[in-house]
Amino acid sequence: MKWSEFFTSSVGKKFIMGLTGITLILFLVVHAGLNACIFATLLDENDHGEMFNKAAHFMGSNVIPRLLEIGLFLGIFLHIIQGLVLEFQNRSKRGISYKVNYGNRGSKWYSRSMGLLGTILLIFLILHWVQFWIPSRFTGMEEVTIDGKQVHDLFGLMKTTFEEPWVVLVYVLACISLAYHLLHGFQSAFRTLGLRSNRYLRIVKGLGIAFSILIPLVFALMPISMHFHWVG
Ligand code: HEM
Repeated sequence: MKWSEFFTSSVGKKFIMGLTGITLILFLVVHAGLNACIFATLLDENDHGEMFNKAAHFMGSNVIPRLLEIGLFLGIFLHIIQGLVLEFQNRSKRGISYKVNYGNRGSKWYSRSMGLLGTILLIFLILHWVQFWIPSRFTGMEEVTIDGKQVHDLFGLMKTTFEEPWVVLVYVLACISLAYHLLHGFQSAFRTLGLRSNRYLRIVKGLGIAFSILIPLVFALMPISMHFHWVG
């Protein structure tokens, strides 16, 4: 089979989904870890978001994270396109939608709703980029001086953004969608990339459940803590 045939076959498409999915899982670890610096204000009342602003400045001004960012956006783009293609192909094979509902007998509802959960996440991502990434990278935003250096006040931007209850609600709903998307996606990615041994599959399943709960929970706590002034 030629490479071009592989990438347009359904095995190839699933392979791309798995590979880009694992890249996005790694991104989520870095993103949640970096953003969790906002909780430093709980340990040090003089922090006022400095630790987070410094970490975000490092990521935004250093060459390596900026190059990785290009790879990340390519990964997100491929994941969305292939996900939508697979979803439409599966739907047309099944004859429009799930007319016969076998409930949980065949698979869990979230495994059958990956397209829907992914679409909710895509809508969230567009809002999220408009609120944070575009001001930070392109249109400009408030700055603060830390250690004599001017850096973007992303902490301040989070505080004002999460004053709005509807924004907090959208973020929490997106985190719930992320949890279910990962609950299927985490182990599915490893299976697609060739993990066959039952022993390792059991470990990956356990890790997947822990990851799918922990990461969205850490993310959801960010808008909630900002809204209720638990950090700041
Ligand atoms: C719920 C809490 C979240 C908060 C408070 C948050 C905050 C931020 C901030 C401040 C930025 C701008 C960073 C910068 O420009 O230096 C950003 C960028 C970004 N976020 Fe989030 N985020 C959250 C959740 C998520 C989730 C769940 C996803 C993915 C499903 C995500 C995906 C992204 C992406 C792709 C970028 C742009 C890429 C980058 O900065 O490297 N974020 N986020």
